[in-house]
Amino acid sequence: MYVLNLVFIFVIINSLRAAPVSECDVVPITQWSGSASKRNAELNKPVHLVIVQHTVTQDCYTDTDCERIANGIRAYQMKYLEYDDIGQSFLIGGNGKVYEGAGWRVGAHTKGYNNKSISISFIGDFRDKVPTPHALQSAQDFLNCAVYKNHLNMNYHLVGHQQLSATLSPGASLQNLIENWSHWLNDVSQL
Ligand SMILES: *[C@@H]1O[C@H](CO)[C@@H](O)[C@H](O)[C@H]1NC(C)=O
Ligand SMILES: *[C@@H]1O[C@H](CO)[C@@H](O)[C@H](O)[C@H]1NC(C)=O
Repeated sequence: MYVLNLVFIFVIINSLRAAPVSECDVVPITQWSGSASKRNAELNKPVHLVIVQHTVTQDCYTDTDCERIANGIRAYQMKYLEYDDIGQSFLIGGNGKVYEGAGWRVGAHTKGYNNKSISISFIGDFRDKVPTPHALQSAQDFLNCAVYKNHLNMNYHLVGHQQLSATLSPGASLQNLIENWSHWLNDVSQL
């Protein structure tokens, strides 16, 4: 009885705490940035392609720092690049949080692929180091959940940004690492 009560209280507290967090533990853009994305073209689901990027900003390890950097990226893209809104589909912080950017709408991250892929962009610079274990685990959990929700095809392909565009993104160290992931695709000519 006592244990049951504790479990019950735990469930209530957790449901209150978890309330603002959306599907697949993604932090909604309304929550980390205070306003909805202006992007509105939905991607055709399930999506078949995931593009891994890095932001080439400071790294972040706390909620406060990750949100500050994500807000900086959003403001920069809208003000200086004159984007409709933040272009990356999802951002992943060193704190292990996944932040909604364009989300499951058509973003602006990889020319020629924006209407048929999502990008997951690790916050930081990963030429000479890899993201935190927490960030890497969150990426896997997110992708698995997206498959489970049928947003992502179960046989999706995953590539590094540099395989599709003239860029160093997601950085040599992170690129090496994702080349070990089971969904990684070497030959992009079929995309
Ligand atoms: C994406 O855009 C291209 C170019 O406009 C178009 O040919 C293609 O059919 C679109 N793909 C999807 C999945 O909407
Ligand atoms: C890739 O996986 C192999 C086999 O598990 C491992 O030996 C290697 O260190 C991994 N490489 C990277 C870059 O993680």
